[in-house]
Amino acid sequence: MLDDKDRIFTNLYGFQPWNLPSAQKRGDWDGTKGIMARGQDQIIEDVKASGLRGRGGAGFPTGMKWSFMPKEPKDGRPNFLVINADESEPGSCKDREIIRHDPHKLIEGALIAGFAMRARAAYIYIRGEYIREAEVLFAAVAEAYDQGFIGKNACGSGYDFDVFVHRGAGAYICGEETAMLESLEGKKGQPRLKPPFPAGAGLYGCPTTVNNVESIAVVPTILRRGAAWFAGIGNPKNEGTKLFQISGHVNKPCVVEDAMGIPFRELIEKHCGGVRGGWDNLLAVIPGGSSVPLVPASQIIDAPMDFDGLKAVGSGLGTAAVIVMDKSTDIVRAISRLSYFYKHESCGQCTPCREGTGWMWRVMERLRTGDADISEIDLLQEVTKQVEGHTICALGDAAAWPIQGLIKHFRPEIERRIIERGGPALLEAAE
Ligand SMILES: Cc1cc2nc3c(=O)[nH]c(=O)nc-3n(C[C@H](O)[C@H](O)[C@H](O)COP(=O)(O)O)c2cc1C
Ligand code: SF4
Repeated sequence: MLDDKDRIFTNLYGFQPWNLPSAQKRGDWDGTKGIMARGQDQIIEDVKASGLRGRGGAGFPTGMKWSFMPKEPKDGRPNFLVINADESEPGSCKDREIIRHDPHKLIEGALIAGFAMRARAAYIYIRGEYIREAEVLFAAVAEAYDQGFIGKNACGSGYDFDVFVHRGAGAYICGEETAMLESLEGKKGQPRLKPPFPAGAGLYGCPTTVNNVESIAVVPTILRRGAAWFAGIGNPKNEGTKLFQISGHVNKPCVVEDAMGIPFRELIEKHCGGVRGGWDNLLAVIPGGSSVPLVPASQIIDAPMDFDGLKAVGSGLGTAAVIVMDKSTDIVRAISRLSYFYKHESCGQCTPCREGTGWMWRVMERLRTGDADISEIDLLQEVTKQVEGHTICALGDAAAWPIQGLIKHFRPEIERRIIERGGPALLEAAE
């Protein structure tokens, strides 16, 4: 388990005020000018050496992503940093804790990351439903401007850097990085075809990097304590600390910072008071937010909670939103409800996603009640494969994977419902 001294988010639960004087007591904005004086390339090298991988879901190495940004302005176009605070993945609720209790970690991180990437400004795109969080963020940004930490000659570094907060209107798809850029530009939030990638042509056609809130908020501490310190926590290629958000059938759901790679059982025992009804009552876990396949109890219990550990059991770390389901769960209904979510949130640009998410949800609903033919399970599986990898953005994959996980691990349960109800094929066979 992570030592208290190694925690980055020391005000995760809001026991202290979020404001600037309090944040400074916790170490924020300490020596920021000195960190910037190390130079842009050195900061990127340090972030690379820390092993930090993006905390928004895909786990792309953060330092490498930053190194894709042009070092000299192209045709006079400025660079931009966009910070993804859309946090709409079902189960995810970590970025809001950072924003409402430790916003200065994010703002200082924005300055350092933006400086490293030669960005002129950072745009923080926060989901519309985060009303109180946005209030805190606006106020914290104003404090940072008043102190001269951001704006002209930020922190006395000679570098000018602005931070803008932009509120979304509440659409899951606006969390996808290119849909977010469209939305920031005032257009309908629909993902762009890539290439060009944002590092070449992003916000307003300018080179842009999009990073998750947690990815940016950990950067100042990494640079203060050293890349080796961060890299020394967790497992190789899965380094550092991580905010886990555990919901569902545990005795004490919570958001907690711990080391990457902590075994599932330890995470739940230490922080959540165990599984409701005991370990024998565990049915399955969705370990990384609703977009990753579920993992049955027997396979998750000893799994390391990191990118590679969860990949090895056929799932993913995603946002580390851990949804625990005990044996009282109607697992087919749970996945069907997620299918409804993806159908609802599809932006409708690509046919496989627009048509497929609705089709998959309708079949899932029939599987839920057993009003189906056994052969439809294979047909559904086949359709998920037609959607997966055939769309502009990863929402199509996100809609397919939970269903694939269900069929892989709970086919007997789906068949049981059909048999008990006496679905069409069985009736025909009986005739
Ligand atoms: C449909 C969809 C929704 C997404 N929602 C979010 C989100 O709410 N927050 C987030 O950080 N990333 C989200 N992402 C991932 C972003 O596109 C992007 O990869 C991420 O912000 C990159 O940050 P990172 O490199 O720091 O992880 C979403 C992706 C997809 C396809
Ligand atoms: S995959 Fe779905 S959400 Fe993504 S661009 Fe296509 S239609 Fe829109």
